[in-house]
Amino acid sequence: MTTVNTQTHLNRAFDLVIRNGRVATATDIFEADIGVINGKIAAIAEGLPVGKRDIDACGRWVLPGGIDSHCHVEQLSGMGLMCADDFYSATVSAAFGGNTTIIPFAAQHRGDSVREVLEDYSARAEEKAVIDYGFHVIVANLDDQALKIDLPQAIRQGVTSIKVFMTYERMKLDDYQILDVLALADREGALVMVHAENNDVIRWLGDRLVERGLYAPKYHAVAHSGLAETEATNRVVTLSRILETPIMIVHVSEAETLDCIRQAQQKGAALYAETCPQYLFLTAADIDKPGVEGAKFCCSPPPRDERCQRAMWQGLTEGTLSIYSSDHAPYRWDETGKLPKGEKTGFREMANGLPGIEVRMPLLFSEGYLKGRLTINEFVALTATNHARTYGLYPRKGSIAVGADADIVIWDEEREITITNDLLHDNVDYTPYEGMKVTGWPDTVINRGRIVIDNGELKVARGSGEFLPCGVPEPVAKARASRDPEALIRKLVDTTL
Ligand code: URP
Ligand code: ZN
Ligand code: ZN
Repeated sequence: MTTVNTQTHLNRAFDLVIRNGRVATATDIFEADIGVINGKIAAIAEGLPVGKRDIDACGRWVLPGGIDSHCHVEQLSGMGLMCADDFYSATVSAAFGGNTTIIPFAAQHRGDSVREVLEDYSARAEEKAVIDYGFHVIVANLDDQALKIDLPQAIRQGVTSIKVFMTYERMKLDDYQILDVLALADREGALVMVHAENNDVIRWLGDRLVERGLYAPKYHAVAHSGLAETEATNRVVTLSRILETPIMIVHVSEAETLDCIRQAQQKGAALYAETCPQYLFLTAADIDKPGVEGAKFCCSPPPRDERCQRAMWQGLTEGTLSIYSSDHAPYRWDETGKLPKGEKTGFREMANGLPGIEVRMPLLFSEGYLKGRLTINEFVALTATNHARTYGLYPRKGSIAVGADADIVIWDEEREITITNDLLHDNVDYTPYEGMKVTGWPDTVINRGRIVIDNGELKVARGSGEFLPCGVPEPVAKARASRDPEALIRKLVDTTL
């Protein structure tokens, strides 16, 4: 379908015109010029007048800038390790990969105050980010101050998504606490994101492996059994159904987990789910590389087998999985991250997580769109629009429409690239995708009308990215529209008594 918005802006010269490109949104494909004034898209039409700056996008795709809504930046991990990327290197790398917005985490650890954590992350990001950013907050210290004061205030200030962990000794919440977070999110208008893995299963299996002297990286994937993910997912989905409160299951890796999610969605659960490049492009065989090489592929949950990979692709195409994020969790292949004890590092000691913020979009463009698994509209939805809708940034972000921020990426769909770590701009000393060949690469990246990347060069200053207060996430707004919270409490209490 071709849709052209013919609104033109005749009073003022455009700051920027992107002309002759093939524009795709999550729903449409059309040929048009895009005129930008004051960082916003002011006109979409054919034959716009010359702007102060013109970019000829002839023969290339003009797409909404990518939004990576799951990445860890300058953050202490669940194991207490600091990421290798700060807000400068992470946002530069994200921009080179076609992104104009990221939503990383501000992570509360035991003993921390949510308010102070948010102030700290905000100050660091403000000084360093080169593209726009919002925040999710991780809660691990669920005291009254957090529940009754700090989280409601954070939500009012635009941090409208809360991640909870069901695993990692230092982070995990129990079911009672998760119910508290779900009730709070429902009341205040936030979306709960869940890292769903059964901690006791992982710990028990890990203990049995260690007893047998099995320490190699590949045992990480044995301890983090697929069924530990499925069990935890089923449990938290049940909790969210009891309270009829939406949740997002992040980084789904296992085919059976996907079955569980699909079934709950079919029953009408307000359930959303995400997968990541590592579950489409890597498998457990990568973790089984000789020596500690496999540490380069250890993340939680771990990459699984080809059956699970196929299931993840199916989840993306059928819509069970609506979000495709990087889960960029950058750790170097040295004593600061993956190898705290060098060659002797055991699977329980290495940092969990993989870098991928820069290759997320090119991998999906090449393997998804160009190989015919996804349409270009689905590619846009999975890399940008659904993120904006899910986390309360739509319609400002995530589309190409008059009035939206001019966040645009121009793609050369013919460029062939072999991914190597040298090419990338993060602060990690390896890429798990080394040697993979992709076709299609982002040429020009524009954020709020500012040219961020042009011809392989960064054009903006450190600290020029802006904080984005997020509104009510669409899943929350939808769930609220379809039921009365007071009636639910009455129903729960009445049927229990
Ligand atoms: O292994 C991973 N995914 N590390 C990052 C933290 C998380 O759980 O998302
Ligand atoms: Zn997680
Ligand atoms: Zn993560």
